[in-house]
Formats: sequence, structure tokens, C-alpha cells
Amino acid sequence: MPVKRVAITTGGGDCPGLNAVIRAVVTVGKLKYGWDILGVEDAMNGLIDPAYHSPHGNVWLDLAATRGILSRGGTILGTSNRSDPFRFVVEDPSGKRREEDVSDQVMANIAELGIDAMISIGGDGSMRISSAFIDKGLNVVGVPKTIDNDLASTDQTFGFDTAVGVATDALDRLRDTADSHDRVMLCEVMGRDAGWLALHAGLAGGADVILIPEIPYRVEPIANAIRERRRAGKNYSLVVVAEGARPEGGEASRLEAQLGEMPRLMGAAQRVATALKSHLDAEMRVTVLGHIQRGGSPSPFDRVLATRYGVAAAELVAREEFGKMVALRNGEIVSVDLQAAAAAPKLVDPEGQLVGQARALGVSFGD
Ligand code: F6P
Repeated sequence: MPVKRVAITTGGGDCPGLNAVIRAVVTVGKLKYGWDILGVEDAMNGLIDPAYHSPHGNVWLDLAATRGILSRGGTILGTSNRSDPFRFVVEDPSGKRREEDVSDQVMANIAELGIDAMISIGGDGSMRISSAFIDKGLNVVGVPKTIDNDLASTDQTFGFDTAVGVATDALDRLRDTADSHDRVMLCEVMGRDAGWLALHAGLAGGADVILIPEIPYRVEPIANAIRERRRAGKNYSLVVVAEGARPEGGEASRLEAQLGEMPRLMGAAQRVATALKSHLDAEMRVTVLGHIQRGGSPSPFDRVLATRYGVAAAELVAREEFGKMVALRNGEIVSVDLQAAAAAPKLVDPEGQLVGQARALGVSFGD
């Protein structure tokens, strides 16, 4: 029996380009294959409970629903990073909250809705969830998104290029004001446990110090790099701090994990600034870019990548090649094993070319 009904979900933190994927899947699915396409609301929430409705609601998507969304940030389906069906937070009658496995309920709802296959657009968390559903027999195709660019098996996730652009623009602005005031500007960027965003934005923005989770830092080398610049007549410095950066022998700054959630990273740049105070006589200011990096219109690169991913995902479903994730390899869109991609994150290689080239430019990694 050929595929007739496809569900599409966007899971985890949003990023620019999600709508471009949805548009591409719907266009190919409708025009070429005549599928019914269910847009699932808020990640897996609409499959845990099909009657669940926040402002969005599950919706059968047609061409009209996806018109004009290519350039829009966010996701028309809504998303969530608290809808993992394998550790879903439920409340008992006494008001006590606990995590429960509701994945069988999802499988039953999918059967009830007559869904033949699911396209899961997400980052590492969504791919891990998809991987567990593959084990339960669900026909899944994955599409890799995230501003963190930390998904294995693909050269790049969509959303990353736009976020690098936003962070680079911020660094350009910080340089102007740092120069005027002879200040040390510390700029915290996202990326979770991977330093890709900090490294790329730092290079694009001409940062003097880049601190990434993969290279634990010490304060003295950072202070030395800034002093060295001063001796060379440069009275300001730009320090990019990945939110997951950690001191040698220490941990990243994170908040306590809430039920059903990953622990949130917070305070990395302020921590470096505070530590630097006793080493350096300099005016310092901290800027945390936060979710500004996640919003806005996707860059042309991300629009093209997301569109290519969407077309390729639809074709995989049509060919019934399930358990795969679309990926970018050397400029070509290919398909890879989804479970292998979900198994481990892609981190910056401290000995790799990019770090080496940054060091050649005199960038300090605080080590
Ligand atoms: O994974 C994307 C990301 O933006 C990370 O860079 C960041 O640590 C996290 O999501 C923030 O999540 P939330 O939106 O829940 O604060």
C-alpha cells in the first residue's frame, strides 16, 4: 500500500527555516503524491493528545496553509521542548508531577488517525525521540534543524547560518562601542554543549578570545590575551563565550533541570567577567544574545538548505525509505541512518582545522 497520510512535526527549540521545510514537504506531498498531510501542533503534543489545542491545533495542511511562509521565522505548527512522550510530565490528582512513558498512546493515536509515516523536523532531542519510535515500528524520516549545528552525520543543520549571522551582527555592533569606550566586551552565544556557533560567529566577528565547551578555559590566558592587545595599542577586546563554556576542572553554568526538560545553560559570560576582574584592570560589559539568535527570517543559505531537506524528506517517504534522516554532505543532500545520527552529538574538534586557523590568527581559546 503506498503512503497516503503523512504527519509532520517540528520539535525542540525553534530556528529559522522550519517553515521552509514544511512548505517544501507540503508542496511535493500535495502536488506530486496527493497525500493528506497532518501538521502536528507543538512537537509531539498533538500526537500525545490529538484534541490538545493551544493557539495552534493539529491541522490538515494544504498549499494555501503554507503560502508565504518561506521567509518567516519560527514554525507555523508550534513547537515544544517538553513533549518527549517517553518522559512526559503528568500530574496526579494530588497535584504531584512525575514523568511517564506515553509512547504507546502516541502509537495508538497515530493508528487512529490513519498516519502511514511521520516527518520529524528537529534537533538531537527530537532525533532521539524519533529513534525510539522507530524501535516501536513507526515509519519516520528525520530533518536536522538547530542553531547549535551539533547533529552528527550532517555537515550542517539549517538555522545555524542565520544564527551565526545574528551573532556576527551583534559582535560588529559591540566592537564599535567597545572601541569608543576602551572596554572588554563579553558576548554570550547559544549552542548548548557545542561551540560551533561561538566559533563561527567569533571568527566572522573578529573576536579576540573565543571560549567553547570543547576547550576548557583558564582565566590567566584570557587576561594575558587582553593585556597583549593593550601592549599592541588595541584598547578594547571582544570575547565570545559559548553558553556551555566551562573552566578547566569545572562544569558549565546551568540551572537545575526541571521535570521533562534538559537543564538550561545560563551565566557563562558573567562568570568569566567576574573571574577576570581580579586579573585585569579593565571596564567590562556582558551581553547575552539569548533567543534573539533563534528568531527572524532565515538567511538565503538556510532557506535553500531547508527547502532541499524538505524535498528530500518527502521523496524518502514516497520511496518508503524509513528510519533515515536527510543530511548535507559535501554540498549534496543525502540520507543517513537516523538512529546513528541521534546516537552522539557533533562537537568541535579542539585539534581540528577551524580551531587551528583561528589560533593562527592570534585568537585565544583561554587554554
Ligand atoms: O538547542 C537550541 C537552543 O537554543 C540552545 O542553543 C539553547 O541552550 C536552548 O535551545 C535554549 O532552550 P530554551 O528555548 O528552552 O530556553
